[in-house]
Amino acid sequence: MPKDAQSPKKPRGNRAALTHKVGYALRHPERVGPHVRRAGRDAWLRLRHRMLDIGCGNLRGGWRFIDHLDTGHYYGVDISPDILIAAKETLTERGLQAKLPHLTLTGDLRLDFLPDGHFDVVHAHSVFSHSPLSVVDECLAHVGRVLTKTGFFDFTFDRTEGTEHQVLREDFYYRTDTLLTLAAQHNLHARFMEDWEKRPHGQSKIRVSRAPLPS
Ligand SMILES: C[S@@+](CC[C@H](N)C(=O)[O-])C[C@H]1O[C@@H](n2cnc3c(N)ncnc32)[C@H](O)[C@@H]1O
Repeated sequence: MPKDAQSPKKPRGNRAALTHKVGYALRHPERVGPHVRRAGRDAWLRLRHRMLDIGCGNLRGGWRFIDHLDTGHYYGVDISPDILIAAKETLTERGLQAKLPHLTLTGDLRLDFLPDGHFDVVHAHSVFSHSPLSVVDECLAHVGRVLTKTGFFDFTFDRTEGTEHQVLREDFYYRTDTLLTLAAQHNLHARFMEDWEKRPHGQSKIRVSRAPLPS
């Protein structure tokens, strides 16, 4: 089990209950307008998004996406059968069965079972930090096909400013330029996400897309 894998958390509280919402609105009437605007924007986004979560793990983070997205709009793939069994447990513990996420075991990252131009969000969190460059290369070679024209693929990686190296073939450290160059070789636009560095995540992030995106 990678060092940063976590066990599922306890079920959420009852903040979504109508009584809680009404009570909150009465106590904070000034917040109702912004909340309604945010809720409208979230509903609009929810309808649009289809997400592919590469190396979804046990859904320690993925359950939040499943909760947010429309039914059937979340696709998680992972190389480990045991992890996918744990993912189903998280789904059950979170009470998200009705969202019908797709959880698929995969032996490679060619993504050939997925349709063209389907996903506007693709995400690989804490996956390439455990992957040799050949796996990153395979993913970048194929991810463009499943992205929509305006979609993007965000991935995190362990960044080194010095010599690239790996530890026990478990942890891999890449230079930013190596990954940006690899993306360009697959006709993808890629940018290092400076704003991600401002928060203490431990890993760095690159965003790739089929066409240049506004920053
Ligand atoms: C550190 S965990 C991160 C899980 C999840 N993304 C998260 O942030 O909670 C890495 C996951 O990537 C999966 N993984 C590693 N290499 C993979 C590959 N080549 N294809 C698919 N999944 C992979 C592992 O099985 C593991 O579940």
